Amino acid sequence: MAAAPFVTIRPLRPEDVPEADLVAWGALRRAVPPEQLPDEAVRSPRGRGRIAHVLATDPGGCWVAEAGGEVVGVALAIMREGLWGLSLFGVRADHHALGIGTRLLAPALAYGDGARSGIILSSEHPAAMRQYARAGFTLHPAVAAAGMLDRALLPAGLRSRPADLSDEGDRATIDRASRHVRGASHGADVDAMGAFGWELLVLPGQGWAAHRDGSPGLVAASTAAAARDLALSCLASAPGGTSVHLDFITAANQWAVEVALDQRLALSPEGPVFARGALGPMAPYLPSGAFL
Ligand SMILES: CC(C)(COP(=O)(O)OP(=O)(O)OC[C@H]1O[C@@H](n2cnc3c(N)ncnc32)[C@H](O)[C@@H]1OP(=O)(O)O)[C@@H](O)C(=O)NCCC(=O)NCCS
Repeated sequence: MAAAPFVTIRPLRPEDVPEADLVAWGALRRAVPPEQLPDEAVRSPRGRGRIAHVLATDPGGCWVAEAGGEVVGVALAIMREGLWGLSLFGVRADHHALGIGTRLLAPALAYGDGARSGIILSSEHPAAMRQYARAGFTLHPAVAAAGMLDRALLPAGLRSRPADLSDEGDRATIDRASRHVRGASHGADVDAMGAFGWELLVLPGQGWAAHRDGSPGLVAASTAAAARDLALSCLASAPGGTSVHLDFITAANQWAVEVALDQRLALSPEGPVFARGALGPMAPYLPSGAFL
């Protein structure tokens, strides 16, 4: 390991948000397939908004590494009803493998001391997987699915519809499904997702999903059939000629493998899901990168 520059680990402050967003995106963007790279004018306000949201809900979980007056790393952790989750973690590439990630992850992990459970959606970076496994999380291999959507393959009779967050019944469906799959609701994240470009769907009484341009970024449901309807309804919302993707499909979520294959999407390996503690079944569930 090379000599580490003088680095301070300190809480994230509101004025750090734009720089923290650039550092995190700079670290993570190389893992994003080229066809999924968002327009920077669209991504940047969403990225900043997401960090500001987590800073507002979980100030104790938000940390940066600072070197020479610049932010060189960021770690954001959230707590939802006893579930700890790693929402964002990245170190600037010119500061990798210097021990900064280890120092940065420590207070984010400590924020979850006493948590009932924890989830991390890992990248394929060896340093990330090493840290999560060493922190006592169990590795669940995962695949992604992606490809051009062929509308002719979508089934008729899908029953999911746009969620109405002012409706108590829809709220109850959303909270219940999240608690079923992961032991904790998504709380305030549900409202925040709308502000970050996510469209929410519900299958009343059975589950919910969030998608951007048809790609489901979160599915939580009580049954595999409901999850399938929700995921397909997300895909059905895709604009014409769009490439779509489903991410973090684990072995417990064969329903999602079937959806992907039925829609002729290609499976490929991706970073594993790490989990620990008393979670729900983690199925039928496609977790959200930012909100788990
Ligand atoms: C993952 C990341 C945050 C780790 O930060 P880092 O400062 O490079 O990590 P560290 O230097 O603290 O190394 C952590 C551990 O991984 C090891 N490691 C570092 N780079 C490695 C590599 N390329 N291959 C294998 N092991 C590596 C270190 O030796 C250390 O293990 P040890 O403490 O047992 O010796 C950083 O590499 C990064 O930003 N990667 C790109 C974005 C990303 O994947 N983020 C994770 C999202 S889930």
